Amino acid sequence: GAPRDLEGRHVVVSAGGTREAIDPVRFIGNRSSGLQGYALARTAVARGATVTLVAANVALPDPAGARVVRVESALELREAVVGAAASADAVVMAAAVADFRPVSRAESKIKKTAAGPAPIELAENPDILAEISAARPRPGQVIVGFAAETDDVLANGQAKLARKGCDLLVVNQVGPGLAFGTPDNAATILVAGGDPVEVPRGPKDTLADAVWNLVAPRL
Ligand code: C5P
Repeated sequence: GAPRDLEGRHVVVSAGGTREAIDPVRFIGNRSSGLQGYALARTAVARGATVTLVAANVALPDPAGARVVRVESALELREAVVGAAASADAVVMAAAVADFRPVSRAESKIKKTAAGPAPIELAENPDILAEISAARPRPGQVIVGFAAETDDVLANGQAKLARKGCDLLVVNQVGPGLAFGTPDNAATILVAGGDPVEVPRGPKDTLADAVWNLVAPRL
């Protein structure tokens, strides 16, 4: 059985990918399935944690034993995560959060016109991971980010760990056949002030347990 090393702990996990509305029927989205975030929630429940799972547009059944909060946009995800983080011992941001959102959402479906397409003006979304890492709403809280990189994976990951200010950053390479929507994942977990941990290709539950193996002793 799983170690009960998260017993009595509250962990918050974000999963899936945000959708930023353009009009009532269209959005800017991404290819995140939510599988890795759900694996983190499931394994945390197995290790005894109280789990809040903030799920953005995930077509998966609720994991048994987790409190699931469903959201759509980055701003909704932020509200849910920041709210739950106030009482959390660990926050794991596995969700793919859109960096930008349309400045305004059209009231009705945008039509084709002879004038051609109008540009979609974008505004920057808040960086939730950086915000929570800076705020540290609870002392001793452990904050984990994910980074999907397509090139210079480790160099980009180290820079991101420092920039975001989180404790751990799970860096995985994405691209055709890698990570998104697949049952397997491979990653390097970067540790602030410590040595990186390599997790070879395997089920997403294995990567999830490797994350909790690093989080639990830091709590
Ligand atoms: O900068 P990048 O998007 O690659 O960072 C990925 C990490 O930051 C993920 O953990 C993601 O959940 C988080 N993130 C966030 N808010 C954003 C963008 C990303 O919390 N606006």
